[in-house]
Amino acid sequence: MEPSRVLITGTTSGVGRALLDHYAKRGATVVAVNRRDVPELEAEYPAVRFERVDVRDAEGVRELVERLAKTGALPDVFLLSAGINRVDNDECFDLRAYQEVIDTNLLGVLSFVAPITRLPAGRCPRHVVAISSLARYVGNPYALGYLTSKRALSACFEVWSRAYAGTDLVFQQVLLGPVPTAILTLDEHAPAWVAELRGWLSASLDGTARAIARFATTRRRKLHYPWRALPPYLGLWLAQALLPGCWPGRTTLAGRPRRDSDGRLGASARPRLGGREAARVARDRVDEG
Ligand SMILES: NC(=O)c1ccc[n+]([C@@H]2O[C@H](COP(=O)([O-])OP(=O)(O)OC[C@H]3O[C@@H](n4cnc5c(N)ncnc54)[C@H](OP(=O)(O)O)[C@@H]3O)[C@@H](O)[C@H]2O)c1
Repeated sequence: MEPSRVLITGTTSGVGRALLDHYAKRGATVVAVNRRDVPELEAEYPAVRFERVDVRDAEGVRELVERLAKTGALPDVFLLSAGINRVDNDECFDLRAYQEVIDTNLLGVLSFVAPITRLPAGRCPRHVVAISSLARYVGNPYALGYLTSKRALSACFEVWSRAYAGTDLVFQQVLLGPVPTAILTLDEHAPAWVAELRGWLSASLDGTARAIARFATTRRRKLHYPWRALPPYLGLWLAQALLPGCWPGRTTLAGRPRRDSDGRLGASARPRLGGREAARVARDRVDEG
């Protein structure tokens, strides 16, 4: 049976949105945490409690968890899905972009874990689910923050899932393969065959939400989803370990890092970014100008 009280972060789009829809349709009590007001979602899901908290704000997150605890509204399952992906290692390394990803994908999850581990033990299991990625095995060399954040997240959850085994706290991680969402902004950098392959390996949003919800009723530590994405990633991981210089070890897909006198902004890849990523880069350029 699926849990009746769930907290989901990052429900404006992608996996978080699919999870919101999944649980709301099944009549669960849902707390949806977003970094901005979402009137359109509030209208669509009137029974859902919407909280505006940026996951990078550790104080705000702690205050939210404590408020839920005080009012007896603590969820049985925390689905910590909010995340971002940034190009941070184009032709030069962009510390600000890297930090933004770590703050969101890693610290944004850990800031939930800290207050949760301080809650008094409950009678029912409380599941804390991190949404990690197969990028923890083989990440895109353009997105070092993403790769690092997912590796570190996996390492932390591996420790906690063992350390808290047998207690009321169940730490679990989902290692997602590609899912067609806004986060996949890096396709432009890859050769066409990579995009083709990724399309073939991708999971549907509905299927992903169903798999995560099923997993969160168990005490299993780890879910790889979809399974078909795992062998190619592990194959690449093995190739990387055995063949010196194999992707993504030595160079980026655009070539080597730029070392000429005008290397301030990555010239080859950035202009081709789409959607939110392009808007962010444009904003950064104005700021830098
Ligand atoms: N899609 C994939 O192929 C894939 C593969 C492996 C793992 N994942 C993981 O799945 C999770 C969900 O990603 P997605 O693919 O669904 O991407 P997405 O469609 O871009 O959704 C990301 C969500 O996170 C929210 N968010 C970002 N920064 C936030 C912050 N500081 N505070 C609160 N919310 C924030 C976004 O809100 P805004 O609308 O306000 O930006 C959005 O709702 C991520 O952790 C991602 O790493 C995805």
